Amino acid sequence: MISVKGLTKRFGTNTVLDAIDLEIEAGERVAVIGPSGTGKSTLLRSLNFLEKPDEGLITVGPVRVDAKTASADEQRAIRRQTSFVFQNYALFANKTARDNIAEGLITVRGWDKAKAHARADEILSTIGLTEKADSYPASLSGGQQQRVGIGRAMAADAELMLIDEPTSALDPEWIDEVLQLLKRVADARQTMLIVTHEMQFARDISDRVLFMDGGRIVEQGPPEVMFTKPKDPRTAAFLRKVL
Ligand SMILES: Nc1ncnc2c1ncn2[C@@H]1O[C@H](COP(=O)(O)OP(=O)(O)O)[C@@H](O)[C@H]1O
Ligand SMILES: [Mg+2]
Repeated sequence: MISVKGLTKRFGTNTVLDAIDLEIEAGERVAVIGPSGTGKSTLLRSLNFLEKPDEGLITVGPVRVDAKTASADEQRAIRRQTSFVFQNYALFANKTARDNIAEGLITVRGWDKAKAHARADEILSTIGLTEKADSYPASLSGGQQQRVGIGRAMAADAELMLIDEPTSALDPEWIDEVLQLLKRVADARQTMLIVTHEMQFARDISDRVLFMDGGRIVEQGPPEVMFTKPKDPRTAAFLRKVL
């Protein structure tokens, strides 16, 4: 179970997250939509301390921290409970697909190399990239790189998977294979918070949709309600533009 209370992040005088409250049940798949610049990435990044929030209580599984006073150890503890899929994949360019997936298991979880590589090979098989195990990111397509990025997050086996616009850097031809893999992750009931512009995908895989604007959650509900009968005029205006 994930709980966020009063999550606030400012950049100078710009309040990017304005006292966000959010609870996510185990196994729940939550999609975040909203105009650009409204704090969606900052929400995900603050939840695992890629950005340090100014205020807020964050609970992920067994770990609970107060952002204001969080020590480096506490921040690491939260980070271990989460995995992250980045828009630009954020793979290590000098590591093979297998090593990209194994890296966190070795450095974060302390697994020995053989065990981590065995697990990475299982993941590579799951994501359909066994034959690319020894390939470096530069020789993979965008879709394959993002599948490795998702594989790395799967390997972390985290309480919460944070996924930030996983297809927006991809050429159109690679989008489907990435969405299909994410659908499988969602079908396995991995708890996830996913920012996406793929509205049909959000509708297909999510249990709940959050609409964010101006650093706040303006409206939330089940996808069938949010996409057909939004209550807030800002949600309606946004959906008119993107649907
Ligand atoms: N590192 C940063 N330094 C200063 N301002 C930032 C930084 N990151 C994000 N912002 C600002 O925070 C706001 C929200 O950004 P972001 O969370 O990326 O929005 P979204 O993901 O919804 O497009 C924007 O106004 C952006 O300019
Ligand atoms: Mg963003």
